[in-house]
Amino acid sequence: MRAAVCRAYGPPESIAVEGDYPAPGLSEGQLRVRVRAAAVNFPDVLFMANQYQMSVPVPFIPGSEFAGVITEVGEAAPPQFAVGDRVMGTTMVGAFAEEVVAVPRSLSPIPAGVSDESAAAFGVAHRTAYHALRTIAAAAPGERLVVLGAGGGVGLAAVQLGAVLGLDVTAVASSDEKLAVAAACGAARGINHKRTPLRAALKEALTDGSDVVIDPVGGELAEPALRSLRWAGRFVSIGYASGTIPRIPLNLVLLKGCKVLGFQLRDLSAHEPAAVRRDEEELRGLLADGKAMPHIGATFTLPEAAAALRHVADGKAVGKVILTID
Ligand SMILES: NC(=O)c1ccc[n+]([C@@H]2O[C@H](COP(=O)([O-])OP(=O)(O)OC[C@H]3O[C@@H](n4cnc5c(N)ncnc54)[C@H](OP(=O)(O)O)[C@@H]3O)[C@@H](O)[C@H]2O)c1
Repeated sequence: MRAAVCRAYGPPESIAVEGDYPAPGLSEGQLRVRVRAAAVNFPDVLFMANQYQMSVPVPFIPGSEFAGVITEVGEAAPPQFAVGDRVMGTTMVGAFAEEVVAVPRSLSPIPAGVSDESAAAFGVAHRTAYHALRTIAAAAPGERLVVLGAGGGVGLAAVQLGAVLGLDVTAVASSDEKLAVAAACGAARGINHKRTPLRAALKEALTDGSDVVIDPVGGELAEPALRSLRWAGRFVSIGYASGTIPRIPLNLVLLKGCKVLGFQLRDLSAHEPAAVRRDEEELRGLLADGKAMPHIGATFTLPEAAAALRHVADGKAVGKVILTID
């Protein structure tokens, strides 16, 4: 099969498309999917550089989110899927290829009317953002939400879903282009942190403070965002796209009476199974209704995998970046 393969750890440019890479074997209970589109995410860059929390031995095919059609059902696979079904799904690696195998619990049907590209773009970012708002922060309509990295995959999803949940959204990003997209996705206001010091800008924009902060960036932006919280506000740490894990003085938490929270999507259903089921059902409804449609900022073809990874690595992605596999 055709696949984008990482044979030696390194920068995005070390990926190469091969025409005769062996298709993955199908184990008991698994399904084979002909991939039509895959999303490119920051962790793909980290896996390739061998800088992710865990290591994948080379050679491997990056790519964790995909959409396509089921072409084979393994023995003893549960009956909910059949050959020909359109599905979207997640895997740790392997999606930048014509074929991927997956277990049924990592797949879900693509609602009618949703394109392969949108389905591939939908998975991790929207689920992470929705769980963060709905379950972790327990955000209520009318609350004031601050989203860092608001032009990125998780951030833009948080902007869109925050607006859908009736929150007043302040988007924080590094460019006016990203802020314009965030505004189109429902942000009430935007702050370009390259132009204005974030602490002062948030103080001016939200005189009574914020209720919830969603932070997929970390680094220098985390502390001024946390300082914007009102009493009993919630700060949700999602990731460290800046490359720096922030160290926040604990006295700020004491003085503000705020809550600092965090979670990993892959662990959440083990700890909060009922809430995750509720969130996922609500989110599927929002996707089917067109209210939670991911913003696709750039589309590349499989032979352009290195350029797609570079786009994400350089922080240029606005919303989601997609690889089409056909
Ligand atoms: N906890 C979880 O379960 C979970 C789930 C999904 C993702 N994550 C993590 O969340 C983080 C964001 O994911 P994402 O998909 O939203 O990423 P993304 O689409 O690449 O967006 C990341 C944002 O971070 C900002 N940024 C600042 N410095 C950067 C740098 N040096 N390189 C790249 N971006 C930089 C950029 O915003 P501005 O420059 O505009 O500020 C960019 O828009 C990642 O660390 C990812 O691993 C965690």
